[in-house]
Amino acid sequence: MSEVVRFSVSLEPELLAQFDRYCKEGKFATRSEAVRQLVREALTVHAWESDAHDAAATLTIVYDHHRTRLTDKLLELQHRHPELIVSTMHVHLDHDNCLEVIVLRGGAGALQKMASELRGLKGIHKGQLVLAKTR
Ligand code: NI
Repeated sequence: MSEVVRFSVSLEPELLAQFDRYCKEGKFATRSEAVRQLVREALTVHAWESDAHDAAATLTIVYDHHRTRLTDKLLELQHRHPELIVSTMHVHLDHDNCLEVIVLRGGAGALQKMASELRGLKGIHKGQLVLAKTR
């Protein structure tokens, strides 16, 4: 590891307890290791958000397809931006839940907006946008 610098951080006890659970579940050896990874991820996303005109990304969502009108809304939203949607893979996880991996391509800002609109729909359990490529 290159030279490291120590700095201190102040957190509310409840936030620290949550963070420690996160470290444990993520199998980080130390808090520092977890903080390093989070900082790198945040900075990557920030750099990407601010200047990529041609970005590619995947958005993974898990949702309950019984939820009223959710499937319609998901389709409507994707049909509204066909220029951003490259492909969609749908997996029927179990009786209630579906997993969808949506491949997106376009300006980073537009992808972020699309992802937050999709993630924001009621009934979406989980939604993660992952940057695949920028130019
Ligand atoms: Ni399904």
